Amino acid sequence: MKFDEFLLEALRRARRVAVLTGAGISAESGIPTFREAQTGLWAQYDPQELATPQAFRRNPRLVWEWYAWRRQLVTQAEPNPGHLALTALAGFVPQLTLITQNVDGLHQRAGSAGVIELHGNLTRYICFDRRHPVSAWAETDEVPPRCPLCGSRLRPDVVWFGESLPAEALRQAATAARSCDLFLSVGTSALVQPAASLPLEARQQGAMVVEVNPKETLLTPYVSVYVAGRAGEVLPALLRAAWPSAAENGLPG
Ligand code: APR
Repeated sequence: MKFDEFLLEALRRARRVAVLTGAGISAESGIPTFREAQTGLWAQYDPQELATPQAFRRNPRLVWEWYAWRRQLVTQAEPNPGHLALTALAGFVPQLTLITQNVDGLHQRAGSAGVIELHGNLTRYICFDRRHPVSAWAETDEVPPRCPLCGSRLRPDVVWFGESLPAEALRQAATAARSCDLFLSVGTSALVQPAASLPLEARQQGAMVVEVNPKETLLTPYVSVYVAGRAGEVLPALLRAAWPSAAENGLPG
């Protein structure tokens, strides 16, 4: 895979790198993305049916079981060379901030630290009424189970449509976008706000914006460099090209 020297030089010179990932980086780990018709998770379900507080109130068991299915997929999945390349990237640049829209925890399992989870994490649970964090509950036939503290139903600790993002995560992500000199958008359709504004804020303050995605997105017209390809192939190749020594250090993929 060939890369523009302009891009490789910018990577080598970058001091503060911000990365935003979406479902696409977990596609090669076998986790379906959201909006791709042939494989997208939504293709099988009506999003309004499953990922909104209203849907949970209407049919808590269905929503709980859909997330149990996704949690199962995630538990069986392994980080892929795309995740591992971003973990390695942290060792090549002075400062790396990894922001994800994914709720699968695969970046953490790949060894990335300080991951900013804009949309939460489906392996964590909170209760619906008071958002108490809950990691264990008494055996029960009731689905979903109930909060040991307040008795309200448990739900995944993820951001549903119409809900606000965790304020601290969003603040950190916005700070990174506004102070980076290189912003890498990987595997996101760039459709969902406020995440989709982050690369544009980076561009606004003069950062180089690079997009890695097999398909062009709404963001593509605004990026400095668009690399068409899959994260699991492009990211390891990009690191090997920018830092040939990386190959000896056993870069993944
Ligand atoms: N490598 C890189 N990108 C890929 C790959 C791959 N192997 N396979 C697919 N893609 C790209 C698709 O081209 C698409 O642009 O990943 C993107 C996935 O887009 P979405 O399914 O819309 O996922 P995402 O952008 O993360 O959605 C954002 O919307 O549904 C909500 O909260 C949910 O966090 C999610 C948010």
